[in-house]
Amino acid sequence: MTRCVARELVEGSGVDAERLVDLLVERAVAEVGNYYYYTLLRRHLVGVEGDALRRVIDDAREEDRNHFEALVPRIYELGGRLPAVPATALGGLSGLRDLPAEADVPQILPVLLKAAEESVRAYTELCSVTSGKDHRTYNLVLAILHEEIAHQVWLLEFLGRGAMEHPARPRELSPFVTQFLHAPRPVALKSVSCPA
Ligand SMILES: [Fe+2]
Repeated sequence: MTRCVARELVEGSGVDAERLVDLLVERAVAEVGNYYYYTLLRRHLVGVEGDALRRVIDDAREEDRNHFEALVPRIYELGGRLPAVPATALGGLSGLRDLPAEADVPQILPVLLKAAEESVRAYTELCSVTSGKDHRTYNLVLAILHEEIAHQVWLLEFLGRGAMEHPARPRELSPFVTQFLHAPRPVALKSVSCPA
């Protein structure tokens, strides 16, 4: 069996690497599931209220895609792999419901809020698992956590203000996660293969 240095280092610092990879894979699948669902949902939002919610959804959608892309390299560094699954089996919001021709905004908001809360809870757990042990993963999941909390706040603001303006755009998307999207390939790790 070949060695996986990143995984060994993480295990040496006291982290259950298998559980960590499982949690990261779960989040990555949920992120791409949210992206998938938001992409469909924005087509079903109509009227003044729907237009306003779409502005929130569009920002969250782009950031969730970034979260997925930022998680994948770390999962591979740790010897993990992502499942090749059809969209219907994705996590996150994607499996929750079929969308009617016109989405009912008051009905859909609690679903979105619940998913945002679950994301915040999951990334908080990942921070706890890696804090003081796996600095690289910790920095990544903390950055995502900041943005998940922002999604929660946007939805709560929308709930409070209805169809009033979503915070002025253009805003900078993924202010915390961007640094992880342009990181160089881990050249030193390329010669080290990990068990599938
Ligand atoms: Fe996300």
